[in-house]
Amino acid sequence: MFNSLVELSEKLRSCRYVIDAVSLRVVYLAAQMKKPLLVEGPPGCGKTELAYATATAADTVVERLPAQNRKIEAGDLRQALSEMGGKDRPLIQPVQWEDLVLEEDVERDLRTLVRLLDDPDAARGIGLPLPTGLLLLGPPGTGKTMIARLIATQTRRSFYPTTSADVLGRNQGESVKRVSQIFARARENSPSLIFIDEMDSLMPRATGLVGQHDIQVTDQFLTEISNLHPEQNVFLVGTTNHPDHIDPRVLRGGRFSEKVEIGLPGRTARERLLERYLAGVALAPGASVATLAERLRDLSPADLEAISNAARRFAFNRAPDSSQLPPLVLADFDKAVQRVRGTVLQA
Ligand SMILES: Nc1ncnc2c1ncn2[C@@H]1O[C@H](COP(=O)(O)OP(=O)(O)OP(=O)(O)O)[C@@H](O)[C@H]1O
Ligand SMILES: [Mg+2]
Repeated sequence: MFNSLVELSEKLRSCRYVIDAVSLRVVYLAAQMKKPLLVEGPPGCGKTELAYATATAADTVVERLPAQNRKIEAGDLRQALSEMGGKDRPLIQPVQWEDLVLEEDVERDLRTLVRLLDDPDAARGIGLPLPTGLLLLGPPGTGKTMIARLIATQTRRSFYPTTSADVLGRNQGESVKRVSQIFARARENSPSLIFIDEMDSLMPRATGLVGQHDIQVTDQFLTEISNLHPEQNVFLVGTTNHPDHIDPRVLRGGRFSEKVEIGLPGRTARERLLERYLAGVALAPGASVATLAERLRDLSPADLEAISNAARRFAFNRAPDSSQLPPLVLADFDKAVQRVRGTVLQA
């Protein structure tokens, strides 16, 4: 195994993780490796994050150094880690602008937001109020979670998700404690981003159906949110598909200064998405990307991805042998739509 490990410089000897170069896309470094690479990551940073950081560092090194001297230095790795979204908990997978297909006005709003977060001094200098939080509205599978990770990546923030799995404990006390711990860590490790997914289910509007547990969790969120100060540099990103089901107290008080609505993709966006999901796949003349974009209406990017994959499977079923995929026909997409959405392809 050892000959497939990257050697890092002396300073990193005290480290905790051994990274396998083969899984790091840095096989071209393997010939010069004598010792294993041992890397210490920040708390909360696991093997996956370090592997990603090392791969990024390797890319940097390869670009910079002549072929005979390609050795990753501690500084390269630290730099790569710092670019991954904060010192406490780097993102598992960074998201870049190119990864997302967004409507023009949505992308423009998000780019402005990122600029303001990235250079608060410039914003203050010209008297612009700093954004405190973002509410993303939109149906499932339209990229809300990706956008939260994009903002964290682009503004180099630690990322703290507060999904039900992160927050809900065995009892009220435990859940309340977890909420306050997440906020405490985010404050300590700012700049950071707290991601509150599905706010309507985590902080529901009080009705007869909402139990004591939910009320306690909502109250704790409210307390934590109202205790945040702008200079702590903790940005909130919340998502919902039902803003009217969220406890109105959460949205009052201006902690979510920005609101961006992500709709289902229009025809041009669908075409761009399908080009990605069907890259390298042969399409029959009647099933061009343009035709498909026209007919696959009212679907989210996640649906389009699932449909593209299912259509490939159906084409594969028709294949006489496994070495070649026959060109995909409309009928493959028709079946795929039925499988994924339970409806038929629109005329
Ligand atoms: N705008 C987009 N551009 C490119 N790919 C997208 C986009 N939206 C969704 N996807 C694809 O769909 C997957 C799911 O997206 P994501 O989890 O961000 O959606 P979401 O809006 O958070 O959904 P949910 O409401 O179900 O949580 C992504 O991993 C990506 O592959
Ligand atoms: Mg999501």
